[in-house]
Amino acid sequence: MLRPSQNLSSRSNHLSKGFTLRLRQVMGVCFISYFFIGLSACSPAKDPAAILLNAQTAQPEDEHLAEIYQRSCKTCHTLAETTAPLVGDGEAWAPRIDKGMGVLVDHVINGFGGMPPYGLCMDCEVHEFEQLIDFMAKDTSSHPL
Ligand code: HEC
Repeated sequence: MLRPSQNLSSRSNHLSKGFTLRLRQVMGVCFISYFFIGLSACSPAKDPAAILLNAQTAQPEDEHLAEIYQRSCKTCHTLAETTAPLVGDGEAWAPRIDKGMGVLVDHVINGFGGMPPYGLCMDCEVHEFEQLIDFMAKDTSSHPL
């Protein structure tokens, strides 16, 4: 005959086994649905983490341009919190490009919204701003426009 305490503990053991089993089943279903939802969402969805990583690793090929970029534009245009269009994020840049290069350079020189005058590159020339804009606005992120 079982003593009440033994009975209780074997009961709770049984319960927890059942619970673990159910949990495994539920997690299995979750995992499978996550897998399929993930797959179907892959192509059209814009992945903010990938866009951010792409922005943070991008670098102008030209050494001089890279040096200017690193000490100025990169400070903001690779951080989502600044609300600056991220480097290589074609979707974010498209409406800006529509304004035309002249307007964009003008906005950099005079400051625009959260961007300080000269985009913090006080010694930059107009042609350098143009090259920096070309580099940053070029769509290199994986998502389609
Ligand atoms: C201190 C942060 C900061 C720095 C440094 C910075 N930007 Fe920006 N930039 C921003 C923000 C924020 C915006 C978005 C402003 C808005 O739309 O309100 C922006 C927008 C822009 C735009 C789009 C302007 C428009 O009319 O839509 C261009 C072009 C640009 N930046 C170029 C540059 C270049 C080139 C550099 C480096 C020389 C640079 N930025 C440095 C913060 C910065």
